[in-house]
Amino acid sequence: MAAQSKIKASELVEPGDDDAVALAKRHLVQPWPYAGSVGKEARALIAEGDGIYITDASGKRLIDGPAGMWCINVGHRREELAKVMYDQAMALSYNTPWYTMNAPSAELARRIADAAPGDLSHTFFTTGGSSAVETALRFMQFYNNVRGRPEKKLILSRGGAYHGSTYLSASLNGRPRDRDWMDGADELVVKLSSPDPFRRPKGMSIAVFTDFLVDQFRDTIAGVGADRIGAFVGEPVQASGGVIVPPDGYLKRIRDICRENDILYVSDEVVTGFGRLGHIFASGDVFGIEPDMITFAKGVTSGYFPLGGVIISERLLEELRRSNHPDALFGHGLTYTSHPIGCAVALKNLDLLEERVLQHTREIAPYFQARLKTLEELPLVGEVRGVGLMACVECVADRDSKDPLQLDKDVGKRIDAHCHELGLLVRPLINMCVMSPPLIISREQVDDMVAILREGISRTMDDLRKEGVWQG
Ligand SMILES: Cc1ncc(COP(=O)(O)O)c(C=O)c1O
Repeated sequence: MAAQSKIKASELVEPGDDDAVALAKRHLVQPWPYAGSVGKEARALIAEGDGIYITDASGKRLIDGPAGMWCINVGHRREELAKVMYDQAMALSYNTPWYTMNAPSAELARRIADAAPGDLSHTFFTTGGSSAVETALRFMQFYNNVRGRPEKKLILSRGGAYHGSTYLSASLNGRPRDRDWMDGADELVVKLSSPDPFRRPKGMSIAVFTDFLVDQFRDTIAGVGADRIGAFVGEPVQASGGVIVPPDGYLKRIRDICRENDILYVSDEVVTGFGRLGHIFASGDVFGIEPDMITFAKGVTSGYFPLGGVIISERLLEELRRSNHPDALFGHGLTYTSHPIGCAVALKNLDLLEERVLQHTREIAPYFQARLKTLEELPLVGEVRGVGLMACVECVADRDSKDPLQLDKDVGKRIDAHCHELGLLVRPLINMCVMSPPLIISREQVDDMVAILREGISRTMDDLRKEGVWQG
């Protein structure tokens, strides 16, 4: 059978039909595919990157609006990063973390501990964000087993959350579309409301909305029982949920409730960590909280190497060391835990962030947010919101009802298509466009980005009107 299908595939080859797009359509399964087009999809072929720009296969230069997937923080084509990867590969490309260790991972763990809030002292390195969240959750399970509380394992998560694509991390995801056709460990997860001020009930003040969220959190714990809940996992700013910036004081109040109930607070900084909000970690420096664990990935290497990790509180480790079960084994490790090339490039990336990029991000963020906010002049735009260098333009059919454009679920994709023509890559999310450019973006480049986005949205409004699906 296998040989037969191979022959069939080769019969389809046309002369000259061996470019990357044709090959992908025959052999590549891309992330998040629909059943109807799985394995047959052509996506925009990107050939090069330089600074905040990428160039597609036709030679068209585009601003990298989402910085890859929120990750190319110090920009494309940084020679310093390429060189450090080369040098590390020539010195030591890999060592088994089961029985040996390497210097870059120890040094990186020290620098991360220096930047982390509270008593977060030790890092377990992973291969990305999903494996970081998975590690934090498995650590919570192990911690409670060792402490003799095997029933304290439930996990609190929220609508709008995105925490990954491994089985347990994906079980926390709160966007219905992500879960509709996928299984999950639902029996382990309790879901709460997204702290989304834009979608709060009509007429409710932000203060009352915040109280509602906090009361819901407290009531849920009382209903389920604190002795059954092991952890709360939350992004400081829900990223893929549409850049949901929580109301002032909300995270601190949730943090306090977790502490009162001996529930571990896991702050998922896979997007917000390593500079996006102008700091290495946003939990402490922006939101004033000290989590029990922080997960990170993406920006830790500016996307040059797949690396992530979870930083763990000294208190938790000390409790394990002092437990009655010194021989209990945390049976968890990845072949690429503490990868020397990943850790070496992360160290250099940290130098770049600390030398200039964090400061630049803090300086330019207000300008970036203010320029994007002007897009609220367009009638299709319901809200522009954000913090640091992450923002979301949310389109609505009607500003009063905030109807999220049920008539056209692909409005984000339509805007993206126009912007691509005009020289900007957008991250479309149903009715939203997320913008999170490389942190090195200049004021002039912000102006270019916003001008293109404005034109892309205007053209989309014209299309929708012409098609008679929207009359705004
Ligand atoms: C907040 C958050 N956590 C976890 C993940 C999963 O990370 P990865 O795709 O590296 O596995 C993501 C990915 O976008 C994320 O945004």
